[in-house]
Order: sequence, then C-alpha cells, then structure tokens
Amino acid sequence: MTSYESFFSRDAHSFRASAIRVFAKLINDPKIISFAGGVPNPDTFPAERIAELAARVVREKRAVSLQYGPTRGLPRLCESIAKIMSERGVACTSDDVLTTTGSQQALDLIAHTILDPGDVVAVELPTYIGGSASFFARSATLVGVQQDDEGIVPESLREVASKTRIKLLYTIPNFQNPSGRLMTQQRRGAVLQLAEEFDFLVIEDDPYGELVYVDGADTTAMKSRDGQGRVLYLGSFSKVLAPGLRCGWIVAPPALLERLEIAKQAADLCSGMLDQSIVDELVANGELQPQIARVRDFYRGKRGILIEELEKHFTSHAHWTSADGGLFTFLTLNDNVDTASKVKEAVANGVAYIPGGPFFVDGSGANTMRLTFAKESDERIRTGVSRLAHVFGFDER
Ligand SMILES: Cc1ncc(COP(=O)(O)O)c(C=O)c1O
Repeated sequence: MTSYESFFSRDAHSFRASAIRVFAKLINDPKIISFAGGVPNPDTFPAERIAELAARVVREKRAVSLQYGPTRGLPRLCESIAKIMSERGVACTSDDVLTTTGSQQALDLIAHTILDPGDVVAVELPTYIGGSASFFARSATLVGVQQDDEGIVPESLREVASKTRIKLLYTIPNFQNPSGRLMTQQRRGAVLQLAEEFDFLVIEDDPYGELVYVDGADTTAMKSRDGQGRVLYLGSFSKVLAPGLRCGWIVAPPALLERLEIAKQAADLCSGMLDQSIVDELVANGELQPQIARVRDFYRGKRGILIEELEKHFTSHAHWTSADGGLFTFLTLNDNVDTASKVKEAVANGVAYIPGGPFFVDGSGANTMRLTFAKESDERIRTGVSRLAHVFGFDER
C-alpha cells in the first residue's frame, strides 16, 4: 500500500501536529541555555517519596493499584480532590469529580462529548497548543479572543459571540500557558455573564493555580461563581507533583460528568490505578501542601532572576508579563520582528526560546516569544538573557 489517506477519518484529516514540538530537541542540549521548555523541572519531583509509595502500594494494595478501577477514579482520591476544590473556592463532593489521565485527556473527552465538526470554540489569544489540538482533532472551528493584562477582554468576547454561535470557551485563568497571565476576578465574572447571555459552556483549565510566587494573587476558581452550571473545571497534579503520574480531574455538573464518564469508558476504562494510588497516598498523608510550598520556593527565585534580567536587557525594546505564578513569561517585542525567523541564530548563540506565533489561532503574535524560567540554573538564566539580547541586537557582549 502506498497511501492510507483514504482510510483516515474526517477528524484525522483535521489533526494538527504541535507546532512547537519541533523545538523540543533544543531543550536537552547542554550547550544551549533553554527558555524553550514547557515542562516542570525534574528537581521538583518528590522522587524518593514516589518510589517509597509506589513500592508500598504495589506490595500492600495490589488488588487496587495493579487492578482495573472505577472509571470515576479511586474513591478516596476523588474525596481528596473535592477537598482541594473547596480550597479553590468550589464547594463539591467526590460525586462531582471524574479523574482523568492528565488534564490533557479531560480536554479530549470534553471535545469528543461536546463538539461536532464545525462547532465554534473560542480560545484566548494566545492559548495552550494542547487545548487547540484537542478541538482541532474534532474538526472544530477555533476563534481567538483578545487578552490584556487582566485576562480575557470582555468586549472582544462579546464581539466574537455576537458574530458566531460559540459552543465552548476555553480559558486558562491562572498563570496561563503561554502568557503567564492571571485573570482578575472581575474579568472572570464578566466572562461568565457573557457565557450566560450567549449560552455557551466554559472550560476552565487550571494546572498552574498552585504555583504562586507573589502575595495577594487571587486564584479563586471561576467555577466558584458558576451558579448556572456552565463551567467544566480541569485540575492536574502534573505541575505540583510530576506529569509522569498522569493524574488530572474534571469537576462538572452531574449531567455533563455522566456523559464524560461514558466517553472515558470508551477511551481507557479508567486512568492508571498505580498512578492514582501513589497520588492518593501522598495527598491522604498530608504531603501535598508541603510539596507545593517546596515547588513554589524552587521556582520563585528563578522567576525573579529572569524578570530582573529582562528588565536589564529588554526594557527599551519589549514588554513582558509579570509571571506572578506558573512557569512562563511572555515577551512582546516593540518592533515587528518575526521571532520564529531568529530561532536558528539564537540556537547558534547558545540560547533557545519558543516563538509565540503558534499560540495564536488567528495568525498574529509573530513578534512574541514564550520564555520559561523552569529549567535553567540562576547563573544560566542570567547568561541566557544576555545571549538573547545579543541575538536581537539589543546589547553588546
Ligand atoms: C494549560 C495546560 N493544560 C493542560 C496541560 C496538560 O497537563 P496534564 O499533564 O495534566 O495532562 C498543560 C501542560 O502543559 C497545560 O499547560
């Protein structure tokens, strides 16, 4: 057989490979200082504890940890998740929780359950590529909504909703990937009002809400204001424990959750029970909060150094988001330079970043880039920013 094209489904023809995966290979070359990663630093993973707990649950709880489990998730873990939700301002019980194989699976299940080909999903400009990928994979149409430093601009969302029938809005209100922005509570309220006025559902994706580096950041979930049952909230242990433990969750109204549960039965029967068992032990032992505190401490200093260095080298040439939490700052050059065209030169100069264009579904954002402070040492962050400034002609070396 020479071609399989005629065998592919309609949706398979709509699949989009991640436009930033090509940069992944830049991340692991030690000669290159990388601001390009999109992953947590392995030094934050509680590896020894995970090893101990893994051994224990395999030896002592094999009938659970090595067995098929309920599609909804390990019951005690669902209860712990309901408690975590109440700390985020959302009153719910374990019956409102569906565990997922990372929040990425939650995005796919929701897309499968809600979207028909051609349905319109509103996404932030810029947005998380894995989110767009899930919607494109269902042949949806994506439209962009403007953000400013307070989050989604309500007038822009209104304009989009007035022109097209939006079925779903996808938002990452806490320290968004890629922009690092925190949406204000006032804007969250305005977005929900528009959801009611124009009758669409909202995915609130929140993998970064616990990674806070400043005082007074209000990360209270949009879901806490969800009087009408329009919000599907997604949580994840990936950024506070380890993404290799594929452990996320959805909190949604019962009628939606029941349908998503059936979609999940078809997808994987249940999420990995070994992963869930490990996370369950850790959370039930009260080890999550101290772990979160350690992860915050780990990133806080690095974030400070990156911002400080940007101020030193880029102040007259660009602006960037304050990254009060999460893993990223997002930089916009004052001039109309296409950052994608400079990647090669940057790598030749020993520094890597992710050009921002692929995060914008409307084709804008060529003069932007995403920078993570997660990977490199303090010293290498300093050297990396000065190399970056050199590449863009902003500094002498
Ligand atoms: C905004 C956002 N949503 C979802 C995910 C997927 O996370 P998980 O590991 O929980 O599948 C990521 C991962 O980077 C992300 O940045």
